[in-house]
Amino acid sequence: MERTLILLKPDALQRSLLGEIISRFERKGLKIIGLKMMQLKKETLDEHYAQHQDKAFFDKLERFMMSGPVIAMILEGIEAVSTVRLIVGPTSGRKADVGSIRGDFSMSQQHNIVHASDSVETAKQEIYRFFNEEELFDYQKIDFATVYSEEERENI
Ligand code: CMP
Repeated sequence: MERTLILLKPDALQRSLLGEIISRFERKGLKIIGLKMMQLKKETLDEHYAQHQDKAFFDKLERFMMSGPVIAMILEGIEAVSTVRLIVGPTSGRKADVGSIRGDFSMSQQHNIVHASDSVETAKQEIYRFFNEEELFDYQKIDFATVYSEEERENI
């Protein structure tokens, strides 16, 4: 089953949106298998945003991500990576469709409420950047047979 990393950024916490955002993922049928509050360190962010290190906004992005704690979360589901990206919307809150998290709650390109892994490969690296194996929970969720069809469950 696919897994993906979500970070609820410091602006989500400051704007009291944690419950709303977590609820959207839960109501979709995604399974939460890891969840914690963390104060991010520069070393972690240097690695996490390595592809942006030459960009003019890099230092400000790191400062913003260290301006308060974040909520890190691992979600599991069939095609969880692409499904979560649809729920989150594109980078700029001003361009994201209404109905997506960024479209509904963000007016910014940087203060865009959430981070979500952009591919299955990236997700595999990002999950273990923020979580240890013992922080990931393998449990049966009772709505599994309702969320997915018999055929989908057989092909996992
Ligand atoms: P995220 O999905 O975490 O991935 C990289 C982050 O860089 C992005 O969300 C934004 O917060 C930030 N970002 C991307 N483009 C810009 C930009 N042009 N100016 C400032 N911040 C940006």
